[in-house]
Order: sequence, then structure tokens, then C-alpha cells
Amino acid sequence: MPSDKVTAPEIRARKRGGAKIAMLTAYDATMARLLDEGGADVLLVGDSLGMVVQGLPSTLPVTVEEVCYHGRAVARAVRRAHVVGDLPFMSYQVSPAKALDAAGRFLKEGGFEAVKLEGGLHVAEHVRRIVQVGIPVMGHVGLTPQSVHAMGGFRVQGRTEDAASRVLADARALDDAGVYALVLEGVPATLAERITRTVSAPTIGIGAGPHCDGQVLVCYDFLGMYEDIRPKFVKRFAELGTLITNATREYVAEVQSGGFPGAEHSFGPLAASAETGSKAVVSSGPPGYGPAGDDDA
Ligand code: KIV
Repeated sequence: MPSDKVTAPEIRARKRGGAKIAMLTAYDATMARLLDEGGADVLLVGDSLGMVVQGLPSTLPVTVEEVCYHGRAVARAVRRAHVVGDLPFMSYQVSPAKALDAAGRFLKEGGFEAVKLEGGLHVAEHVRRIVQVGIPVMGHVGLTPQSVHAMGGFRVQGRTEDAASRVLADARALDDAGVYALVLEGVPATLAERITRTVSAPTIGIGAGPHCDGQVLVCYDFLGMYEDIRPKFVKRFAELGTLITNATREYVAEVQSGGFPGAEHSFGPLAASAETGSKAVVSSGPPGYGPAGDDDA
């Protein structure tokens, strides 16, 4: 393990005056490597992959196998960041035993270092059981996307005094059950501040204002990948959607005009040195081709 590897205990310790936690979602190796190199502390393979990778209208159909598949890709690419997997809908709600089973699979099959689950009082026992066997659990309260139908859509939660008390009670229950960090999603900034002061675990906000101990965003949101989806809580730190569309237009035009590929992107015959046994390297490292002549062997 590299000496600067971010771990669950280190994340928990940030509550005591440490640096704010910068968390992002990631679903594949290339993106994970870039976000890790950029210094993200935590990479979450969120069940948001159902919406942003699979194009579904909600996270509900996502499976344990799918999250583990993306988890393996992310875990392979990361050097420093702490890698967390999001337990999908119905993989943990049914019972503490089922939750423990799914969490175990995440570590064995997904390469994860911790699991995240949604809900409060009604999953506190589930959290306790998972934590007892040595698997760190991150909680998630407020707007919990797996309850989209119960909430009547993706709506900000805890806006009335009663509703705020319920979110606070959920946060306290997870804190008492032993979560090492707690995502607060889609709640008023004042409520997030109150929860952050109340619980012993660091809070990580998304649409929860500036007073949390850290922040999380979906990677495609903060990179500006969509023209049409612009939630209020997202700051777009880049406009990759426009860059990609423009690059594609240029590529299409050059393919059609014959401008691409040029001589510099084309191969010639084998060099004389290759015929005498020493192999001339055309390109090294993925995704180029290996030593010249391998394909002729
Ligand atoms: O699934 C997800 O990406 C999440 C984050 C937005 C916290 O739960």
C-alpha cells in the first residue's frame, strides 16, 4: 500500500480538523486514474452508474454484479484514493444477514475498501453487522435515490421542521451504528450544518451546502458532460461535453476529407534491424501496438 493511500480511518479522522474530503464518482479505469492523479480522496462507484453509464431513469435496476464489474476496473487504476462501492437497491434492505453477504461480495469480488448504503433507522442494525466483521460502512441520508418512488421524485428532503428531525434521527442512528462517514444528499444547508455538528462521523455533502466535512459530485456532472442536465448543486469545473462533440465533428470531417490518417499515423515495412533480430519499437504502452513484427510472427 503506498504511504499516502487514503484509508477509512484516515477519512474518519478528518472530522477532527483535517482537510476537507474531496470525493467523486468513477466507473472505469481511465477516468479513475485521472481523478486519482488529480488528488480526489475518495472514489465512489455509485449506483448512479445506472443513470449516467447505462442511461436508465433511476438507480433501481443496478445489480451487485454490475457495481463489482465497475469496481474492479476502478480499483485496478487507483494508487492513492480510497475506493467505495455503493450497495444497490435490494442487495441489503431485506435483512442484516443479506446486507453482510452483499458487503462481503463487494470486498471479495469488486476490489472495494468500503461499502455505502442508503437509509437511516431501518438499516442501522444492518450497518452494525457489517461494521462488526471489519468492513467500513459509509452512510447516506436525506435525498436517497433508491427511495425515488417514496419521495415522489428526486426532491430536496428535510425542508420542514418535522422532516428535518427525521433526517437528523436517521443520521444519528447511522452514526451510533458505526459509519465512518456520512453522505448528506439534497438537504437544506442549515440542516446539513446541524447534522455535521451533531454526528461524530465526517459528513460529505451533495446538494447540502458548504458546512459539511467534505463534498461529493458525480464525475460526469462536475466535468460538464451534458448540455441538458444542469442541477443547481453542481458546479461544472470543465465543459468536456462540448469538447468531445467538437473533437468528434473534427474527426468526422478529417475522415471524410482524407486528412486523417496522415503519414505520421501510418506504418511502413519492417526496418532492416528487425530482420536481424533486434526489434524496433513502434509504440510502447497501451493502447499502441507492441514491438514491430509481432503481428507477422
Ligand atoms: O450513486 C451515487 O453516485 C451516489 C453519490 C451521488 C453520493 O450515491
